[in-house]
Amino acid sequence: MKDDQDHHHQQHHHPFHHRRFWKLSGNYLRNPKPAAYLILLILTYALGYFTASPSLSSNQITTTAATSSSTPTVSTTLTTCNCPPAASPPILDKNNDHNRFGPECANPIPPELTRSTILNRVFNGTSPYDNFPPPHLANLLLPKRVKGWGSNGAVFENLINKVRPKVIIEVGTFLGASATHMAGLTRQLGLDTQILCLDDFRGWLGFRDRTEYVPIQNGDVLLMAQFLQNVVYYNATESILPIPFSTGSTLQKLCEMGVMADLIEVDAGHDFHSAWSDINWAHKLLRPGGVMFGHDYHTKYDNRGVRRAVDLFAKVHGFKVKVDGQHWVIE
Ligand SMILES: C[S@@+](CC[C@H](N)C(=O)[O-])C[C@H]1O[C@@H](n2cnc3c(N)ncnc32)[C@H](O)[C@@H]1O
Repeated sequence: MKDDQDHHHQQHHHPFHHRRFWKLSGNYLRNPKPAAYLILLILTYALGYFTASPSLSSNQITTTAATSSSTPTVSTTLTTCNCPPAASPPILDKNNDHNRFGPECANPIPPELTRSTILNRVFNGTSPYDNFPPPHLANLLLPKRVKGWGSNGAVFENLINKVRPKVIIEVGTFLGASATHMAGLTRQLGLDTQILCLDDFRGWLGFRDRTEYVPIQNGDVLLMAQFLQNVVYYNATESILPIPFSTGSTLQKLCEMGVMADLIEVDAGHDFHSAWSDINWAHKLLRPGGVMFGHDYHTKYDNRGVRRAVDLFAKVHGFKVKVDGQHWVIE
């Protein structure tokens, strides 16, 4: 009973009450134009709906633009849906821009030509040790001022014994603690090894807070001069040469020049991006059978930036990372 009453009540208030409907219909029949428009509109909509391309989902928008009748029609599809995201280039793909570092290097020059090539190309045929130290620096330098981090670790001896390198490249040298240590080790083995030390000899902002005495003159920190002095002190001027520029530009140039090494130590910038760039460029300079290694595999700096770079590099190229004390090694 309650249902009937409600039904009646609802009918009474319905906008299309039957009496009104017939009145309206009568009007349309007497004046057919609006009815025809309405029917045409419904048919157009239905036609569009049924002929729409089935490959387009409801949340893709296609816009078509023709600039003139003679130019081809340009069609763009904008996706505004929750579809799975388009696949991004895989990070482990060797051909991904992130993993590509320049073209192939030039043909390797013979190891015996390494020293003369660097002297000619970097120092215009002079030696950085000629007439060293100049009078204006002599009073500022200590006879020996060495400071390093893990610079005498067992890894140096292990790898030098194993590889017996003719050329070593050190990426990040500072005052030459590890370079002079390696020079001593190669000498003990009777090897005639050239060690190229890549460093801009600027250190890093704030390093003087943590490193006692490094001379400074007119705002210029004299890291390179003190490094040269240390090499002189250790009697290693015939086996060690600095290359005082940024690691990225230098590694790239050595690659162009075909200067290669049997052993490469990477120990410059310790944030992920610096380490990533240095490791990738350095590896291009490794001779077949050579070994690349570096310090600070365990350091927490930049959320373990060095380790992330080393591990990613190994993954991209299918290498294994070995750990020797604080150092990582890729053979
Ligand atoms: C940790 S120290 C190297 C220590 C050295 N291997 C040792 O054990 O005695 C890092 C060195 O890398 C250098 N360095 C950092 N980023 C560099 C860059 N982009 N170009 C050139 N040198 C850089 C700094 O000037 C600094 O002397």
